[in-house]
Amino acid sequence: MTLVLFAANRDKWREYEASLKNALTQEGVVAQILHLDDAPPPGSVDWIVYAPNSTLKDFTPYTALKGVLNLWAGVEGIEGNRTLTAPLTRMVDGDLTQGMVEWVTGHVLRHHLGMDAQIANPECRWDPVPPPLARDRPVAILGLGALGGACGRALSALGFPVTGWSRSEKAIPGIRSVTGEDGLAAALAAAEIVVVLVPHTRSTEGLIDAARLAQMRRGAVLLNPARGAVIDDDALLDALDRGHLAHATLDTFRTEPLPEGHRFWTHPRITVTPHIASVTRPASAACVIAANIARGERGEPLLHLVDRSEALG
Ligand SMILES: NC(=O)c1ccc[n+]([C@@H]2O[C@H](COP(=O)([O-])OP(=O)(O)OC[C@H]3O[C@@H](n4cnc5c(N)ncnc54)[C@H](OP(=O)(O)O)[C@@H]3O)[C@@H](O)[C@H]2O)c1
Repeated sequence: MTLVLFAANRDKWREYEASLKNALTQEGVVAQILHLDDAPPPGSVDWIVYAPNSTLKDFTPYTALKGVLNLWAGVEGIEGNRTLTAPLTRMVDGDLTQGMVEWVTGHVLRHHLGMDAQIANPECRWDPVPPPLARDRPVAILGLGALGGACGRALSALGFPVTGWSRSEKAIPGIRSVTGEDGLAAALAAAEIVVVLVPHTRSTEGLIDAARLAQMRRGAVLLNPARGAVIDDDALLDALDRGHLAHATLDTFRTEPLPEGHRFWTHPRITVTPHIASVTRPASAACVIAANIARGERGEPLLHLVDRSEALG
């Protein structure tokens, strides 16, 4: 029998236990699934379903481990763990992607349509300034992976000219793909709305610094649903204070929850959303995990393997 260890907090276990058991049965995997607190002998564990806020940090005792399946898309909390030598997969799931597409599209449209001026209009001003059409509002997406690619396609379908920046060139209909330093500079300079969807790695830590912000157009808007550490907070505040950027909508932060009293909370040009752009939902995520375990048990290559070459730490 395959032994699966669920290494995340008890609340998550309550959310996932039934879905995971059901999904593994559907996949034909005969498995026992236990929570970390049940303390099964580590040497008998085949698979670990993992959340990076788990108390499990030392994988050394798990000598027969076939793989660790991260519940989240972001893996910066585990990929640098040197005690983990088994394969690591991350969450790529249709519902997760859909959530991000909706968050990004919603916030792009908010800024594109200038909705704030109508929502807060205390002087009841009749000010009929129509927004441009989407085709006249260039958007840049930094990161064209599972999430950035889907958001780019959705924005392109709405008519926005989309430029996407990634490590390797992509052929996605409707998206101008750019790479490298020059590609990033061109994407930032062309866009009126910039969406950050790169992972937090050694290469992307502080990516959006003072120099990159200066490359952005005056009056541009920045959306960051990726990871807080990709942005230099002080440089962002400075760019907003000077009016170089018109607004930043931030879903992720260097410290979460965003500390009380942090300037982001009250800055007139910042909107804070509490890391809700896209969440892993048990019903669909359990199917992704079970399908991957089934692949592994059949000796097939795992899906969504993490490239750990740029891992932090
Ligand atoms: N706020 C939320 O609720 C939430 C939810 C889920 C995920 N996230 C965040 O979203 C991030 C992206 O997720 P994903 O599933 O789209 O990841 P992904 O599929 O791994 O895509 C990452 C993209 O970033 C590009 N990239 C990585 N490093 C780069 C670098 N140094 N220079 C240029 N491009 C680089 C990759 O380029 P290549 O394709 O060329 O490799 C790829 O296109 C996650 O890592 C996570 O931090 C946030």
